[in-house]
Amino acid sequence: MPEELLTHSAEETIAWGRGFAARLKAPLMILLSGDLGSGKTTLTKGIVSGLGAAPEEDVTSPTFTLLHVYGTENSAQKVFHGDLYRIEKFHDFETLGMEDLFSKPAIVILEWSERFPLPSPWPQIKIRLEHAGGDARRITVTS
Ligand SMILES: Nc1ncnc2c1ncn2[C@@H]1O[C@H](COP(=O)(O)OP(=O)(O)OP(=O)(O)O)[C@@H](O)[C@H]1O
Ligand SMILES: [Mg+2]
Repeated sequence: MPEELLTHSAEETIAWGRGFAARLKAPLMILLSGDLGSGKTTLTKGIVSGLGAAPEEDVTSPTFTLLHVYGTENSAQKVFHGDLYRIEKFHDFETLGMEDLFSKPAIVILEWSERFPLPSPWPQIKIRLEHAGGDARRITVTS
């Protein structure tokens, strides 16, 4: 059963993400989808800070850098934050060395994950963000 909620500010989305993080255990893929500005990066701030991998202000959009890594090398909660917006297909993903992120159990959060399917043996949680008028966002979680 999908879980659905509505937030009314960026702060509320971040706070929900922090709480949601308590339910997560590596290895895991979190596949984020939703339009531009729907809140994927904002939600990731909450999840990454909730996991204790980085403070929320250090979590920024990987649109141009494609991949950010939070947490220390030995950290159980190493978090990869990627963005497929500028990547055409899985082959490009491999070319960028991103497939390395599956070498050790981690939590992988991907924006624009609907662009193409990623072969991964890890459990996946899908989170869809939608504009719901003004600052409201509908968040739908499917495991
Ligand atoms: N309820 C809300 N939840 C999340 N963000 C909100 C909310 N209300 C307003 N915002 C604002 O909407 C914007 C969301 O931007 P964000 O970068 O998180 O979106 P995105 O989905 O990652 O976009 P992109 O596809 O460009 O990567 C931010 O400026 C944020 O402050
Ligand atoms: Mg983003």
